Amino acid sequence: MAFTKKTVRDADVAGKRVLMRVDFNVPLKDGVVTDDTRVRAAIPTIEYLKDKGAKIILMSHLGRPKGDGPEPQFSLKPAADKLAELTGYDVKFVDDTYGEKAKAAVDALQDGEILVLENVRFDKREKKNDPEIAKTLASYGDVFVLDAFGTAHRAQGSVVGPAAYLPAYAGFLLEKEVDTLTSIFAEPERPFVAIVGGSKVSSKIGVLDHLIDSADTLIIGGGMAYTFFLAKGYTVGTSLKEEDWVERAGEMLKKAEEKGVKILLPIDNVVADHFGEDAEGEIVDSDKIPDDRMGMDIGPKTRELYADAIKAAKTVFWNGPMGVFEMDQFAAGTEAVARAVADSDCTSIIGGGDSVAAINKFGLADKMSWISTGGGASMELVEGKALPGVEALLDA
Ligand code: 3PG
Repeated sequence: MAFTKKTVRDADVAGKRVLMRVDFNVPLKDGVVTDDTRVRAAIPTIEYLKDKGAKIILMSHLGRPKGDGPEPQFSLKPAADKLAELTGYDVKFVDDTYGEKAKAAVDALQDGEILVLENVRFDKREKKNDPEIAKTLASYGDVFVLDAFGTAHRAQGSVVGPAAYLPAYAGFLLEKEVDTLTSIFAEPERPFVAIVGGSKVSSKIGVLDHLIDSADTLIIGGGMAYTFFLAKGYTVGTSLKEEDWVERAGEMLKKAEEKGVKILLPIDNVVADHFGEDAEGEIVDSDKIPDDRMGMDIGPKTRELYADAIKAAKTVFWNGPMGVFEMDQFAAGTEAVARAVADSDCTSIIGGGDSVAAINKFGLADKMSWISTGGGASMELVEGKALPGVEALLDA
């Protein structure tokens, strides 16, 4: 499916002030960026604008500050420094967003220069999508570019607001993300295998529903598998479960059967007597989970079953880990799935969030066709929802 919005390629940016919303919501430790994926992902659009001689004003949120003023631990300065380090460009930073200081820094920009504003969420009005702040931000630019795919599902001041006052275009990252995550469902090369893990059925219900409509095989792992087990009449010991969602899980199994979609659930599991770094795993079949044990990972027979299904796939979509991969003793299931995807020559799309952290942990990122930079945003897109940030852009 072609991207239906105008992109920076359509914009006249030479010598113009380009206000660009990026997603520099990156993890920090002691004031240093620990994962620069999102900063790297914004560089192609920044480079393009710089080559065209635009004055580039970058804005983003970082974390979830209270919105009552600056909180140093959420400053965007480390992200600006990271951008300078990765590109070799002189990246200016101003510790203000909506005030006179920010305006003066914008006014001082020369063609081809880059300025990063302070965290847009240091003011409560950002999250409320207050038109006043949108107006202030829009006054900094002649053109608005949205490249913050990870935040495109938030109808917030800096994401959708400037589009009401300025011609609004998509950056290359946003275009690629939306294109990739929608075309995979429109025309997947088959067999199309979808893998969904993570703890809760309730948080991925829309995604699961949508996948049953488009995939040939749906692999389920992680904590959510136990709610499906209950729907199948198994007992699950002390495993994570959502009693209120058992009926819905049962309906999904039925729908899949009617549509001829194969659902793979774990046939064996690594269980433990408690949740903790010191917990020891033992392997049990899915219909034999003892009352005092909780599921922590998929078992070895399941790993093989899932790897075989993945091997046969031409397209794979994956979101959510198979077990508690953060603890090494329960990481084998997620690792086996990640390796199977990496080894297959299918088109592999990774839908953000924890599965990305897992792939990075196993050093397999460069083996995937596309890793989304958006967690919530990619899930909403996969559910078939429109993203407010994208909707606000000019139609192509
Ligand atoms: C994300 O990390 O998912 C985005 O940057 C959005 O952040 P938010 O959930 O705090 O709005």
